[in-house]
Amino acid sequence: EKGGYEHFMLKEIHEQPDAIRDTYRGRLLAKEGIIKMSGIDDNIEKFTNADKITIVACGTSWHAGLVAEYIFEDLARIPVEVEYASEFRYRNPVITNKDVVIAISQSGETADTLAAIKLAKQNGAFVFGVCNVVGSSIARETHAGAYTHAGPEIGVASTKAFTTQITVLTLIALKLAKVKGKISNSNYHYHLQELELIPEKVQKALQSDQHIQNVAKTYKDAKNCLYLGRGYNFPVALEGALKLKEISYIHAEGYPAAEMKHGPIALIDEQMPVFVIATNKGHYEKVVSNIEEIKSRAGKIIGIVTEGDANVKNLADHIIEVPETLESLTPLLTTIPLQLLSYHIAVMLNKNVDQPRNLAKSVTVE
Ligand code: M6R
Repeated sequence: EKGGYEHFMLKEIHEQPDAIRDTYRGRLLAKEGIIKMSGIDDNIEKFTNADKITIVACGTSWHAGLVAEYIFEDLARIPVEVEYASEFRYRNPVITNKDVVIAISQSGETADTLAAIKLAKQNGAFVFGVCNVVGSSIARETHAGAYTHAGPEIGVASTKAFTTQITVLTLIALKLAKVKGKISNSNYHYHLQELELIPEKVQKALQSDQHIQNVAKTYKDAKNCLYLGRGYNFPVALEGALKLKEISYIHAEGYPAAEMKHGPIALIDEQMPVFVIATNKGHYEKVVSNIEEIKSRAGKIIGIVTEGDANVKNLADHIIEVPETLESLTPLLTTIPLQLLSYHIAVMLNKNVDQPRNLAKSVTVE
């Protein structure tokens, strides 16, 4: 049942090229320049007339929501708030019938997310679900939705659910960007073509596994780790840190790279591995200068970079390459080495990768 893999988590990490393909199959018609999603098509005015979109979720799904915030605002120019479902439900949030709420949940059973949906509905919002489990409580409770079609995710640490959630949300953002006339034709078509190429690029990213195992060996005894990223890759830094915490029990924190100087920089010494996502688009030069700040404080630097990168290589202790893509799609690639890294560290430390202590696959109580 693990398909020859030692753990479900590793199997699910390797399933991502196919899972992403399954997510966009029948929806993304790149050649025709069409995105077909009935849950959006049938409710298009709710989305185009929305004052704002509020995303509610927990854990990794919340991180996917953060990535979506960047892409929705950047491409579709719709204001987005991303909320922890557990905070939203008790905060008397300002939600009206002019709002769209998107609930993201792999299991579709997370108690806090379900409660947030009920509250949003009471306030008149249109609620859209992005779930993996078909027929789950959240899928039933929402007005409409889009499944991720990632297939069963057994490992408690979420992997393919995350990348397929991002895929669905990217499709929605592109569709809305097009309908609202916020994206140029050429940029729209470029995005569709690049999205279609993501599965093979994920496959390529997975080929760094052996190298990542060596990196894992070097840092497996660290007591603390920092993960930094900017823009689209800030949520990936949060997700990388969560993965490491969950399965290896090493303390890790994710930060927007530029926030480092507002506090966490005090932690940096030669004992501190810092994983920095520094792909070649967006805020590349800024991230490189953040890397220089770490280096001058003797921190260990592991750069997640675009293939062929020359600058970070000179500064970092290790680099892990991912293929080049559009900035908005980089989270689908930069996530992969961070998943593998936590996996290998946890295995090397003899931890129970698929069922980490104190954690359940779906949190059905608040
Ligand atoms: O099933 P959900 O997506 O609603 O679950 C949300 C979180 O409980 C989940 O993502 C959790 O953080 C995972 N263990 C992360 O790996």
